[in-house]
Amino acid sequence: MSNRHVTLDAGALTGFMQALFAASGVREEWSALVADSLVAANLRGVDSHGVQLAPFYLAQLADGRVDAQAAGQVAIEAGALLSYDGQNGLGQVVASHAVDHAARLARAHGLGLVVARESNHFGAAAWWAQRLSSQGLLGVVLCNASTIVPPWQAKDPVWGTNPICVSPPGGRWLLDMATTTVAMGKIYKAKVNGEAEIPAGWAMDSEGRPTISTAEALAGLLMPLGGYKGSGLAMMVEILTGVLAGGAMGTELGGLRVEGRPFRVSQCFLAIDVARLMPLPEFEARMERLIAMVKSTRPAAGFDEVLVAGEPEWRREAERRKTGVLVDEPLFCTLTDWAGRLGVAQTPSKLSL
Ligand SMILES: NC(=O)c1ccc[n+]([C@@H]2O[C@H](COP(=O)([O-])OP(=O)(O)OC[C@H]3O[C@@H](n4cnc5c(N)ncnc54)[C@H](O)[C@@H]3O)[C@@H](O)[C@H]2O)c1
Repeated sequence: MSNRHVTLDAGALTGFMQALFAASGVREEWSALVADSLVAANLRGVDSHGVQLAPFYLAQLADGRVDAQAAGQVAIEAGALLSYDGQNGLGQVVASHAVDHAARLARAHGLGLVVARESNHFGAAAWWAQRLSSQGLLGVVLCNASTIVPPWQAKDPVWGTNPICVSPPGGRWLLDMATTTVAMGKIYKAKVNGEAEIPAGWAMDSEGRPTISTAEALAGLLMPLGGYKGSGLAMMVEILTGVLAGGAMGTELGGLRVEGRPFRVSQCFLAIDVARLMPLPEFEARMERLIAMVKSTRPAAGFDEVLVAGEPEWRREAERRKTGVLVDEPLFCTLTDWAGRLGVAQTPSKLSL
């Protein structure tokens, strides 16, 4: 199998995505929201959470596992706290409302905490945390995810890849990470590209033995980040999402690849108005000082510089905005198949192959 890719203009790819979702019964502005969030991940080089997710979302819409019309509603508002019932709407739609509430509460109270239940996959957590940090708020975003990670020393999965994302204002540091060694999408990407092996440390087989076989990994389990510590972080995320939101927890979740029942994701959005503690420029200057401390350390053997979180993705974004977005060829074929099925005439022209 090849791992050839096509290079597409980001704007054209966004328009194509938008057309696919609109043809699936999603209203125009929500189609645009989903399309923007997916292509933004591709631009940052986080291809596991870019348009690779679209075929799964489209399948969920096609068989009614996601309610294309649902916007969700506020279930409880109490001071700086808000609980949102996503009513099985698109994850991006629910997250968009939740983020807006978190920002509003942070302005009113200094911080806002919104938990959402009965939501769906919202793409990369960074997109949502950046929506808070771009407003001068420190954003923290967490979500639970489909069951694929065992508690440490177990071989039965209970957790998802439960990501943690923190984005302070200033846009110079952005941590967005699964609580597994890698996100599931990276193993799925290896499968799509016909790669029989994945790097050591990514996954376990179904008996809980470490494996480098892509097939065994897909039929098996993901490795918690750093062993029992990753397992602990995953449970922490589960507590701050599923437990606190009154939503599905652990094995009660469905999944993007689980047919016949809704996903039932919960999400947590924390917005902190740092300007309540110090002027925003002072906060940003302190962030710069901290980043300079990190970046002025001497690189270890084998490296020529020290990076901070977010830097690899911003570099890739600067490049991809100029040269276009890479989409694996098998994925491009799947997307054009969906276009045919949904009667979408437009497909983005390839910049190169
Ligand atoms: N929606 C969901 O259900 C879900 C679940 C899991 C993961 N995700 C998403 O998957 C994406 C990928 O997660 P991941 O854990 O595979 O990411 P990753 O391992 O590629 O990167 C994790 C973090 O490490 C930083 N980093 C990378 N190289 C670095 C270096 N050399 N020095 C310093 N920092 C560095 C990155 O900037 C990033 O913030 C994220 O966007 C996450 O939100 C989503």
